[in-house]
Amino acid sequence: MLDRLQPQSPDALLALIKLYAADDRSDKIDLGVGVYRTNDGDTPVFAAIKQAEQKLVEEQDSKSYLGPEGDLGFVHALMPYIFGKDATKGGRIEGMQTPGGTGAVRLAVAVAKQAGVRTVHMGVPSWPNHSQILNDVDIAFTPFDHANADGTANVDAVLDVIRNAQDGDAVLLHGCCHNPTGIDYSNADWEAIAEALAGSAALPILDIAYQGLGHGMDEDAYGIRKVLDAVPEALIAYSCDKNFGMYRDRVGALYVMAQTSDQLPPILSNLNALARASWSMPPDHGAAAVRLILRDSDMTQVWLDELETMRNRMREVRDALAKAGDVGSLDLRPLGQQNGLFSVLPLSKDQIQALRGDHGIYMAGSGRINIAGLHMGNIEKFIGALEAVTG
Ligand code: LMR
Repeated sequence: MLDRLQPQSPDALLALIKLYAADDRSDKIDLGVGVYRTNDGDTPVFAAIKQAEQKLVEEQDSKSYLGPEGDLGFVHALMPYIFGKDATKGGRIEGMQTPGGTGAVRLAVAVAKQAGVRTVHMGVPSWPNHSQILNDVDIAFTPFDHANADGTANVDAVLDVIRNAQDGDAVLLHGCCHNPTGIDYSNADWEAIAEALAGSAALPILDIAYQGLGHGMDEDAYGIRKVLDAVPEALIAYSCDKNFGMYRDRVGALYVMAQTSDQLPPILSNLNALARASWSMPPDHGAAAVRLILRDSDMTQVWLDELETMRNRMREVRDALAKAGDVGSLDLRPLGQQNGLFSVLPLSKDQIQALRGDHGIYMAGSGRINIAGLHMGNIEKFIGALEAVTG
């Protein structure tokens, strides 16, 4: 029976990791999958995580099962950072741990479908796995344009979708550091989006995977907090894989804001049942380490300082790219205004291929580059290569 399966191509983004590893040029540059890199091109374990892991080794006394909701200490410790002062909105927000942000998005979409959502509206381009998850959960998705040609966010497109939404619609929004474009809604845009959502039939699904990598923990939560102040209910998918550097440990959470606190238990029971049937319970280690950090003010400060260093370094790279201005046929200035790990360059397939083949520069087929793959030691080579393939 299994011979009936048609071969599938590997996920293009993850396949890049192996292609890059197989290239033996010493000056190759990896701008593919979204991991932070230091000025030396490394992706080290955070010092705060090392401290927490040490503590875990010493203090953890059991690895017995927890339950489908995972480590609720972790889930609750994150909430003030995501939702701000009134972190439960008067008891209307509760969450559960998930295997990374991917698990959280998958759970959000699956429970939305059970609740009657038939179409998810999503700005494109988006993280490729969004549409893969929607296809896999078998829920329709309708794209709208996320960005304008001048590198600003197309707020009119999202407002139009929200205002025309019908019962059974959801809208999926990136909280900050839009993947892949780096083009975020401005605070004024978020205010308009929140107001529109308040009068809309659309269920907001908010995906926040890069908090702290744009302008700061509070600054990056501005949009989702505005939305949650305005709407009756929402699903919020969260990832710690980037802002705690826990990529392969898969540390995420899904939160639900219900219309009333009484409505939370039935919603959570559905989420628990979905999680049980999918992964039973999430992996513990990374979430336990994050919990230990957030419960200890010294470790929290170490983590926040590390996050600030990452943010500043990416800002430096963005400034250097923007300063290069016109490069071949490209205008790199807008990259200075964008946020987080990613930006998209309008390159053709042939140009992307030439960057890889002739210059050892690896990026996604969409033209998405990982800003953190650049540093003061390789940025000149990158700009020269862009000039060569587009000039
Ligand atoms: C990315 O977009 O590169 C990351 O979010 C990694 C992933 O899972 O796709």
